[in-house]
Amino acid sequence: MKGLILAGGHGTRLHPITLGVSKQMLPVYDKPMIYYPLSVLMLAGIREIQIISSPDHLDSFRTLLGDGSSLGIELSYAEQDKPRGIADAFLVSADFVGDDPVALVLGDNIFHGAGFTGLLEQAARNVEGCTLFGYPVRDPQRYGVGETDAHGRLVSIEEKPARPRTNLAITGLYFYDGKVVDIARGLHRSARGELEITDVNRAYLARGEATLIELGRGSVWLDTGTHDALMEAGQYVQVLEHRQGVRIACLEEIAWRLGYIDRDACYRLGSRLANTAYGRYIMEVAESGRALPPTG
Ligand code: DAU
Repeated sequence: MKGLILAGGHGTRLHPITLGVSKQMLPVYDKPMIYYPLSVLMLAGIREIQIISSPDHLDSFRTLLGDGSSLGIELSYAEQDKPRGIADAFLVSADFVGDDPVALVLGDNIFHGAGFTGLLEQAARNVEGCTLFGYPVRDPQRYGVGETDAHGRLVSIEEKPARPRTNLAITGLYFYDGKVVDIARGLHRSARGELEITDVNRAYLARGEATLIELGRGSVWLDTGTHDALMEAGQYVQVLEHRQGVRIACLEEIAWRLGYIDRDACYRLGSRLANTAYGRYIMEVAESGRALPPTG
């Protein structure tokens, strides 16, 4: 399975911060935002990942993450010259994806919670149709909204409906089978001029091939779209990391726990950042070899 991280767009709701820097590069407490979606793909067991961003910002992601070899993964980069919509990711990365199943995650989505890694593994094993994740929110009209029947099966999806039928937002994490590039090629632009991911999901739903996993109360899906939401996401990570003494989305730790790199390599990655608590945490984890499950 391949992985895509969509990390473009203009980030207009975060101006002036994002006039000179990519939104997905902004700090969420102790690490750049893109670490969080990248950790999600890694925890799903995906090692071939393409990062899509705008021409202005692609180089900063290359500088940050390189070819991924230090983490035991393969990273490549693709340019989206204009924000043509989320489903445009499959056209931009058509050669990379080919006929393979693929997981797409939005570069500004943050997930965390008990049992989340197990759900990711489940979604990655399902190579038929698509798997979407639903999360109850107070303001569903800002998102794709899913409706389920009495058995929890998905029956409709709407993009930012003025009158949402439910409070179940469809999050920015999507797993698709090998048909997705062809489906994206057949899309028409929406009223707002974009190739909508909701239309891809509707195509799967129409074939009876869309599965919804509802993330419960034990899970967290955080928004980073406004100044307040970005601050709150950072505070959430800070509180949890201070309280528990573990780090969320620590890529080096995840790579080591998944067996992509050995303990020495993990220690060396930490020692390069030894001036920071983040770096010292990686060194401690590698030294102690604590048998903790990977953090999400
Ligand atoms: O966050 C989940 C929501 O994401 C879903 O519930 C919606 O169904 C989906 O349409 C999307 O809604 P947004 O309005 O939040 O999408 P937005 O246009 O803000 O784009 C999400 C991220 O993807 C953002 O960080 C910028 C990036 N992006 C977006 C577009 C349209 C790109 O990199 N390229 C693009 O062409």
